[in-house]
Amino acid sequence: MNLLFIGDVVGKPGRRVISEQLPLLRNRHKVDLVVANAENIADGAGITQKTAEELFAAGVDVMTNGNHAWDKKEALEYITTEPRLLRPHNYPEGTPGTGWFVISVATGHRVGILNLMGNVYMHPTLACPFAAADTALAAKPEDVKMVLVDLHAEVTSEKMAMSWFLDGRVSAVVGTHTHVPTADERVLPQGTGYITDVGMTGCYDSVIGMNTQKALRRFVLKLPERFEVAEGMGTLCGVLLDIDEKTGLCRAITRIRATETVVQSAVRVA
Ligand code: FE2
Repeated sequence: MNLLFIGDVVGKPGRRVISEQLPLLRNRHKVDLVVANAENIADGAGITQKTAEELFAAGVDVMTNGNHAWDKKEALEYITTEPRLLRPHNYPEGTPGTGWFVISVATGHRVGILNLMGNVYMHPTLACPFAAADTALAAKPEDVKMVLVDLHAEVTSEKMAMSWFLDGRVSAVVGTHTHVPTADERVLPQGTGYITDVGMTGCYDSVIGMNTQKALRRFVLKLPERFEVAEGMGTLCGVLLDIDEKTGLCRAITRIRATETVVQSAVRVA
């Protein structure tokens, strides 16, 4: 089973590079399932039905989420109608949507997707992601051998701790949220694939996907500048997971990077 996980998709450059490159990647790597973190797909903050449908049409099968889940209010309603869109599982009881979804793929296998959010420097009142992982896995159907966990978290140590906590119990733990790809992808001793952060899918001529000049005004002049999605060529960052269907464990994890080939001359930043 080849699972492609795509890191935080930011705005139009992120959606555009997925539309262009994902069909090629699916073909080249014989990808069976595509999961993408989508919390920033709509104008760099949140999710709308229109932008989610654009990614589903481009070949994304399931979308995970994070602290920007509700930045666009329509997501609160949309998530109740679209089971392939998740939100962190450790949000309080009663939050719309769910953080656990089982998808059937063309190979005939079922794959569980679990979306969690970190506690450190994130929502201070969020439930413990470690306890939430235990609860979700305890309820996992017996025939679901493969499980992907997206831990949306700020600090490296929390993500790394989760990988050891779940080693041998899930196929992979992938980190999202920082928008910077790390070079520590590996398969842990008990067979769980891991990377601290998959990186951003968006415009890298930016400050984590946002317009550089606006970000500089905030940092240098301390002005209350609104973040704006950077325009320019989109780069897709992801990891390809080779998973054993019988054991659910990871054979290999490989970083993937693809850049738009169509020059966005009209929107290139001077
Ligand atoms: Fe985030």
